[in-house]
Amino acid sequence: MEEKIIDESKQGESLVLEGKSSNTRKLYIESYGCQMNFSDSEIVASILNDQGYNTTQVLEEADLVLVNTCSIRDKAEQTVRKRLEKYNAVKKINPKMKVGVLGCMAERLKSKFLEEEKIVDMVVGPDAYKDLPNLLQEVEEGRDAVNVILSKDETYGDISPVRLGGNGVTAFVSITRGCDNMCTFCVVPFTRGRERSRDPLSIIEEVNDLAKKGYKEITLLGQNVDSYLWYGGGLKKDFKNATEMQKATATNFAQLLEMVATAQPKMRIRFSTSNPQDMTEDVLHTMAKFENICNYIHLPVQSGSTRILKEMNRQHTREEYMQLIDKIREIIPDCAISQDMISGFPTETEEDHQDTLSLMEYVKYDFGFMFMYSERPGTMAARKLEDDIPEATKKRRLAEIIDLQQKHSGYRTKQFVGKTVEILIEKESKKSDAEWSGRTPQNTVAVFAKKHYKVGDFVMVRIDDCTSTTLLGEAVGYSENN
Ligand code: SAH
Ligand code: F3S
Repeated sequence: MEEKIIDESKQGESLVLEGKSSNTRKLYIESYGCQMNFSDSEIVASILNDQGYNTTQVLEEADLVLVNTCSIRDKAEQTVRKRLEKYNAVKKINPKMKVGVLGCMAERLKSKFLEEEKIVDMVVGPDAYKDLPNLLQEVEEGRDAVNVILSKDETYGDISPVRLGGNGVTAFVSITRGCDNMCTFCVVPFTRGRERSRDPLSIIEEVNDLAKKGYKEITLLGQNVDSYLWYGGGLKKDFKNATEMQKATATNFAQLLEMVATAQPKMRIRFSTSNPQDMTEDVLHTMAKFENICNYIHLPVQSGSTRILKEMNRQHTREEYMQLIDKIREIIPDCAISQDMISGFPTETEEDHQDTLSLMEYVKYDFGFMFMYSERPGTMAARKLEDDIPEATKKRRLAEIIDLQQKHSGYRTKQFVGKTVEILIEKESKKSDAEWSGRTPQNTVAVFAKKHYKVGDFVMVRIDDCTSTTLLGEAVGYSENN
């Protein structure tokens, strides 16, 4: 059991783009997992578009099937395995079809897919997508193809991604890849490699291009955006310590935010994910200073117990996290904050769990992404700690965390009732084709009657009612930003 209070409707949906008319081959591409994977699939589609492939949504007619995979929890891998079985069933009818695995599972399992399981033709890790033309050549010549080499500097900054299956209004722009944090439960540092930052100029170029195409909101993406640091392409290890590195650098995250916000003052700017230990006051002041940077911070904590945080190798205590929350509230009073939480990490006691609940009570998060601990092979936690919390206990603790979060989400949405807030219209509401759905700067979803407004409009909406996750109201006019 796991609960995410977000729109998961896109998981696994096949993606389409407008391709070149001269292209004759058909690519079917599916993505699972985090936003970074969806963003990476856009880079892959862009590379393959130059290799003669247009996308299709019909699996049966594909020449090439690619699945961009997630390893974060065991359940994510099981979902992909089921899809691989499905592709192989189709392959029996269409033997010319080739199947490739991309992303974190490719990186984690490497050639195991080819040698032991023989269920795919191609295995490509997250830093090897530029090698796809060569790998496809090998597959065509009848050889299995693998490239799972991780890079210290690949950021795909020079590839302009094609936008797949989006709403034409909101887009993701990746600014860092990989992660150096080594949280003991997490497989990401192994599957996505060392952290590296992308050239700020290529980021601004992509943002400007999106603005030109009519996009109204961008989210800067990275596993740990606050540690973004661009210093002309050097590596962290080339510097004696963090201070030395800072001194020699040109752009940190606060500065990048300011650059992006200034380049497109009418665009909404978001970012994800922030790591508590790396979030600086400068970032908070930059958020407060620029109207177009949304007052919303995704600030995963994982546990409210200092002892468990230490076991997780998170670089802060419960108290330090609370101080950061206080700082955020002081500098940006109306800032929404969301969490990631893990229940049942090895050795977690009932008291540790109570610490998690009381921390939640202190913060009253607007949203949450909550999971049961899933042991990942190769991680420090798997090597050093026994997965000793019974499934039933993990489940019960998770249910308590989710219940409390629902209460807090309800409390937060209620604060909006009676207010008039700016909403960017993204799409039709799932429940009614007479209503639009969009979000406040704080990332809360609002639905309201369509009237004469259209997707991409910034409108002022008077909030009359709410559920625990959604605001209900009426559009009363365009926002000044429109
Ligand atoms: N910094 C990343 C975190 C990626 S993983 C980001 O950009 O969001 C997303 C979340 O999955 C983590 O914050 C954590 O709450 C959860 N997670 C990671 N590994 C896990 C594991 N082994 N078991 C359960 N949940 C896990
Ligand atoms: Fe994973 Fe921790 Fe990095 S959760 S992605 S190792 S910040």
